Amino acid sequence: MDYQVKNADGRLGILMPGLGAVATTLIAGVEAIKKGLSQPVGSLTQMGRIRLGKRTEDRHPLIKEFVPLAGLEDIVFGGWDVYADNVFEAASTAKVLEPMLLHAVKAELEAIRPMKAVFDRAYARNLDGTHVKEGADKMALAEMLMDDIREFKEANNCDRLVMVWCGSTEIYIEESEVHQSIEAFEAGLRNNDPAIAPSMIYAYAAIKSGVPFANGAPNLTVDIPAIVELAKENGIAVSGKDFKTGQTLMKTILAPGLHARALGVKGWFSSNILGNRDGYVLDAPENFKTKEVSKLSVLDEIFKPESNPELYGDMYHKVRINYYPPHGDNKESWDNIDIFGWLGYQMQIKINFLCRDSILAAPLVLDLALFTDLAQRAGMSGIQEWLSFYYKSPQTAEGLAPEHDIFKQLMKLQNTLRHMMGEDLITHLGLDYYQDLVDTL
Ligand SMILES: NC(=O)c1ccc[n+]([C@@H]2O[C@H](COP(=O)([O-])OP(=O)(O)OC[C@H]3O[C@@H](n4cnc5c(N)ncnc54)[C@H](O)[C@@H]3O)[C@@H](O)[C@H]2O)c1
Repeated sequence: MDYQVKNADGRLGILMPGLGAVATTLIAGVEAIKKGLSQPVGSLTQMGRIRLGKRTEDRHPLIKEFVPLAGLEDIVFGGWDVYADNVFEAASTAKVLEPMLLHAVKAELEAIRPMKAVFDRAYARNLDGTHVKEGADKMALAEMLMDDIREFKEANNCDRLVMVWCGSTEIYIEESEVHQSIEAFEAGLRNNDPAIAPSMIYAYAAIKSGVPFANGAPNLTVDIPAIVELAKENGIAVSGKDFKTGQTLMKTILAPGLHARALGVKGWFSSNILGNRDGYVLDAPENFKTKEVSKLSVLDEIFKPESNPELYGDMYHKVRINYYPPHGDNKESWDNIDIFGWLGYQMQIKINFLCRDSILAAPLVLDLALFTDLAQRAGMSGIQEWLSFYYKSPQTAEGLAPEHDIFKQLMKLQNTLRHMMGEDLITHLGLDYYQDLVDTL
């Protein structure tokens, strides 16, 4: 593949269905950073560096100086929500950021009002907002979203748009007939097929409007053949699913290390308490199921029990999420890991992570938006597996197992950037530093 990456000229609109805790923390954060009040900690696009060439060359530019990314000054935010609150009000309700910081960017946040959502309580029964579109059928709703997208682009003088799903986790839906082809999907939109969730309607509208889409929740959304086909047909980049933050982030940092040292694992029990609206939505069992499937998949893929039965064949893995309002967005997670070493001797690891959900998620939304826009400008369409780094449940081509190990995911991401820019890929072989050794081979 030979990429010709277009420059990031003009303004980039970041559209988010769901202006809740994560989205408002991102928007307020970017506005605060633009005013010099804060730093974009946790964002690879803003603070990360990338090694180029051989170690002896000592080239480590900032990623944002290596690849052409939209600058924070050129970003415009917009979105939809089932509640009519502007972003200042929604951020105040979410209680993630201090009132002082929110007041410093109040005018910018108040100016962003959500557009009416495509929503149905059948997909998230714990939400009761009424700021919702009405249409004859799901196709009519998709067309209304396309109008919103077009009007937003014009009104804000944007050159390009990206969409990142920051809406609630929807009920568990299995892939079925209606998801198999564009024709079946479009027929399903017209006859209100219940297997087409609101997030899929946004994805359809985005792709039809030429807007790439990243999915931050564990819903199927773009991870169905019909949408992948539509994305390819229209030359649009898509990726998903479920932002990798908190407990799963820790899992995909620690598990590759245990696996690398051939240490065995007998059990991994993960429990969480959180009290934000996300936690409230996940309190409904049919919504929790969607999250559970996403969270459970990571360990099997890293440990591969079928090829390592002595070490991981009996591993018991359990994940619980408990809604606990007093903690708000400050999620607390506990992991008890029963491992064993030499001769089967047992040991335990305990992790107690007192994290802040939206503080971990906001920089991921920024990076996903900027990298998705980059992919689109590089002419990369369909599934963007190189963005697996950001997801709990990375979307891959059919028949391809996802890579969950965060270090391999980072290598894949960095090599993709090097590849796009015509730099040598880095394999970490390093034999060429030892010329006498190479000569003997
Ligand atoms: N914060 C994290 O660490 C994290 C990690 C992984 C995934 N996520 C996912 O990100 C999403 C956002 O999380 P959050 O903490 O901001 O939740 P939140 O409840 O604060 O915000 C979600 C918002 O989406 C809105 N919404 C729901 N359905 C909608 C629709 N059809 N159209 C438009 N708006 C809709 C809700 O009204 C709400 O305001 C959730 O799905 C969550 O599971 C978050």
